Amino acid sequence: MCGIVGVIEKENATEKVLQGLEKLQYRGYDSAGICFKSEEKLNVIKSLGTIDFLREKVPKNKSNVAIGHTRWATHGKVCETNAHPILSENKNWAVVHNGIIENYKYICDDLQEKGVHFSTQTDTETISALLGQNNFLNPIKNIAFLMQQIKGSYAFCAVKNDDKQQIFAAKNKSPLYVFCSPYISMLASDPICFPKGEYFKMEDGEICKLQIGKVEFFDCKCQQIKKQPNLEQQFDAAEDIGQFDHYMLKEIYQTSPALRRLAINFLNLDLSALKKLSFDKVKLVGCGSAYHSCMIGCEYFKKVLKVDSEALQASEFRYGSTLLTKKTLCIFVSQSGETADTIAAAEFASKKTKNIVVLTNVLHSTLAKLGKIILPISAGVEMAVASTKAYSCQVAALYLLVMTLKSEKMFYKAVSDVFLLSKKLDKFYINMAEFAQEISFAQSVFFIGKGLDYVTAMEGALKLKEISYINCNAYPAGELKHGILTLIEKDVPLIVVATQPKIYEKTMNSALEAKSRGAKLFLISASPPKAFELEDFEMCLSLPKCPPLLRPILAILPLQKLSYLVSIQRGNNPDMPRNLAKSVTVE
Ligand code: M6R
Repeated sequence: MCGIVGVIEKENATEKVLQGLEKLQYRGYDSAGICFKSEEKLNVIKSLGTIDFLREKVPKNKSNVAIGHTRWATHGKVCETNAHPILSENKNWAVVHNGIIENYKYICDDLQEKGVHFSTQTDTETISALLGQNNFLNPIKNIAFLMQQIKGSYAFCAVKNDDKQQIFAAKNKSPLYVFCSPYISMLASDPICFPKGEYFKMEDGEICKLQIGKVEFFDCKCQQIKKQPNLEQQFDAAEDIGQFDHYMLKEIYQTSPALRRLAINFLNLDLSALKKLSFDKVKLVGCGSAYHSCMIGCEYFKKVLKVDSEALQASEFRYGSTLLTKKTLCIFVSQSGETADTIAAAEFASKKTKNIVVLTNVLHSTLAKLGKIILPISAGVEMAVASTKAYSCQVAALYLLVMTLKSEKMFYKAVSDVFLLSKKLDKFYINMAEFAQEISFAQSVFFIGKGLDYVTAMEGALKLKEISYINCNAYPAGELKHGILTLIEKDVPLIVVATQPKIYEKTMNSALEAKSRGAKLFLISASPPKAFELEDFEMCLSLPKCPPLLRPILAILPLQKLSYLVSIQRGNNPDMPRNLAKSVTVE
């Protein structure tokens, strides 16, 4: 989703903003823009497409103050006019914004009646328009008054056309971070943009005034707040793509070390609060791949602890008739910890139960703050939009969580299982090129499985559709004959996930029914292919041995690689699929 960078620097703030925007590209965007100050004038430059196009337009002259933005359109079509920064009509203020101003229509109508002219279709223009209208001499008062007027989620940075080297910012619900040093001061929606060192996380309702070497924070009554930088930017190699062509491929290969890190982190965690939880049923909540890991976690709770459990999509959680009591344990799973739907679901659940566990990759995220217990998934920075190592770490973290609740003995066994699994992954080399060749030009691809395999089928289908743009659908194997067989035509690829011996035959029956109607079958199973499989299937892949409950982590790996290769063969950029964003910060 949208990304914000603001820089005050003695040398060249525009270049630093462009570099910051490049680091935020992983979030997904359709246009970008920058505003730099020169001789009290606000210069705005915007471009459609990638940061490279913007860079070409930005003059080489130096400025000490600049703000920039990557836009993922929500209100108003994708065009240069709607890209940020957006100027107030009197050109006194320029604003970049992440989030949604929910009452923008009302504000627009009101200001238009007063003669204000709007030049974009965005909700963001209400911020610049109100700043342009509010005539307080003190900019902090101006922003505080603005915050009384707007409703919704936002993080914004604003600069004024004066001779001062300062940037203002405020936030509600959307993330914003601040870095301040004698040489460079920065604001960004992800600390990944900052140099190494300590930085601040802004809280909801706070206003920030940033200068070089100096930062001040205010509450909404304009009272100054004392804040200490409480987070530290650690250099993470994930920022560097290394010898890989794409982050996605690099991240698939990072699954194994990430699992080892997760196991070590769990060994070092104080899990006493988790063990003390008293609950009678469990709800596991997430979106997309995180929802799929919740589905696997749900099976773990049922199989290992025999507890009534349910996995729910966060976007449905609040609106369905979810029954929660004080004794319900709610587990929220999110790589980014900034997914708006998951945050809203956790806020909803917090009103009914105190048993809130958050499982996330970003321990200082907005979601993490809502958890009574916060557990890491330890995946390391994930840049590609398609989740790979984070999904596998979520599944492994849920395994460790459930085994912690089972017994001390099972916890230690589970830690060792995750270690052993990571070793298996190191040696699990699969060449998916031929497989990818077969799938690449299909109109649609079907995936089937039962139980845990059905979840792998769903995650495999999501991955493939997300980056190949092929229509992919996953079904429980037994459902084919209840309607789906009608879609099976000659040569349509059907990927069969059948890694559980007990239900293997049942899955096979469904696969063969599809084959009789023309489907081309591809198999992922837990044991080496039998003679008849080699006959019926175009290709058979068998997984190395591992504890059955962890098999989904092995089974998803070939499907992640398959998706990556198909995406490339179709000429797509697997790291940045069209229309999608890494961090979905709006509902
Ligand atoms: O950051 P989160 O884990 O909360 O993100 C949830 C989904 O948006 C995410 O898993 C999405 O489905 C991925 N792009 C799938 O690869």
